[in-house]
Parts: sequence; C-alpha cells; structure tokens
Amino acid sequence: MPQPYLGNPDKGPSRIRIHHLQQAKDRGEKFAMLTAYDVMMAEIFDSAGIEILLVGDSAANTVLGYSSTLPITLDEMLVFTKAVANGTKRAMVVADLPFGSYEQSPAQAVESAVRLLKEGGAHAVKMEGTAQYAAHVKAMVLAGVPVIGHIGFTPQAEHALGGYRVQGRGDAVEQMKTDALAFQDAGAFAILIEMVPSDAAAQVDAALRVPTVGIGAGSATTGQVLVWQDMLGLGERRTPRFVKKYADLRSVVGQAVSEYHQDVLNGSFPSAEYEFKE
Ligand code: KIV
Repeated sequence: MPQPYLGNPDKGPSRIRIHHLQQAKDRGEKFAMLTAYDVMMAEIFDSAGIEILLVGDSAANTVLGYSSTLPITLDEMLVFTKAVANGTKRAMVVADLPFGSYEQSPAQAVESAVRLLKEGGAHAVKMEGTAQYAAHVKAMVLAGVPVIGHIGFTPQAEHALGGYRVQGRGDAVEQMKTDALAFQDAGAFAILIEMVPSDAAAQVDAALRVPTVGIGAGSATTGQVLVWQDMLGLGERRTPRFVKKYADLRSVVGQAVSEYHQDVLNGSFPSAEYEFKE
C-alpha cells in the first residue's frame, strides 16, 4: 500500500498546513496527531513524521498531576506551547484553549487564542464546545487564528456531562452533527470527536467537508489522536479502552533508574570513563 503523502516526510510538505489536512480528507488519506508538552518529545514526534502536535490541556493531568483538565491556566499552556513549538520543524502545533480562557465572549476567545499564537508559537488552537460557541470560532478565524472544534466528550465539561461518558449514542448523534456543522460553518478547519460510538463519528465525518480527528471514535475519521503518555505506557493510571499501548516506558525508565541508583550506591558509577583527567 503506498504511504500517504502527508505521512512521508521525505516527499510531503516541509511544514504541515491546514490545506494539507483538507487534501488528506479529499484524497481519502489519513494523518496522525499526538499530544506533546515539551521540547524533546516534540523533536522525537516531529522527526517521526507525526503531522500535528497537540499541546493538550491534558497537560493538567499528564504533567501537572491534577485529576481533571479544569485547573490548568492559559499562562501554563503558554509555557508548554513554547516548548513544543521550539522542538518542531514540520508538524503543525495546535494548542488547547484551557477552561476559563474563552467561554465569556468571542472577544475573550480571540484574546486567548492570539496569545497562544503570538507568544506560544502555536499555528492553530483547539476549543471544546457546542454550536453555541460558533460565534467564538468565527471571531477567532476572522482574527486569523485557525481553529479545531472539539465535540463529543469534552473533558472541560466533565461535571456538566456527568463524568467520563461516551457521547452521541442514539439520537444524540443529530446534536453532534449540528455542533460539528456549526463549527465548520463558522470556519473551523477540522473537528475533533472524542469518545463516541464509531457509527456516530462516521456519520459526523460524512456530514462534513472538513477533516475530522478521532479519539475513541473509531476509524472513519481522517485523523487519529492519542495522549503520548498513554500510548507509550508512561502513566500509572489505567488507560481508556481506545488507547493502544505501543511501548512500556514506565518499566523501561523504572529499570534504568534503579540500575543507576544501584551503581551509585555500590560505587560503580562513575567509573574512569566518566571522569575528567588533568
Ligand atoms: O487535551 C488533550 O490531550 C485533548 C485530547 C484528549 C484530544 O484534548
């Protein structure tokens, strides 16, 4: 099977732009998104050819240790966004608008989004919400900010949604289509769909012109996204069923650190090769 154009860093564009993602949908090709929060992981993911690095507000859980995404601030998101932008040559960098940084008005959304691009170096933002936030998307797009609308399960609305629950079951798919179309019509260049039945995600994708990115939403979406600590097995927490674990970094790191600890205690590190000579 030929490698998709975007997935081939030797042949594809030198920087992934929004029209490349649209081309992927139009051609029936796929792209991959992965979260990133620091420069070194961003460098690795970028070199591996990942098309979009998402500076997710999941940093609240995976980096800062909170039990939800609600506490993370725009200033904290800016620190992570700068680090990821500094580690990226080819990938598009998308930063999350954190809880409390956009809800009040389209003007507040523009102000926060502009900071993520201007100070953080992001190329686009992602905003959670429903059709009621279409005006916010429109205002950001008008200001020159590319926007991904995030629908389905939206973690910032965890308490309003009654916890971590699959969305869009049964008739609820109609509301999801309405939300997705409202974001698309307001100018969003992609729609991210989280934790919905595959059939529902496929229906939303089919109703849209723009690409979709799924997480726990089956295989019909143009793109897929995962949280890197989940897919590389770094976290201690139980991962959701939609996560495929590609590595077990927690044991790799744990073993290496125990070895170092033993070496220091028994005096075998540092040996002569790690010492400076006169
Ligand atoms: O913050 C995040 O990492 C996200 C993904 C779960 C899509 O929004």
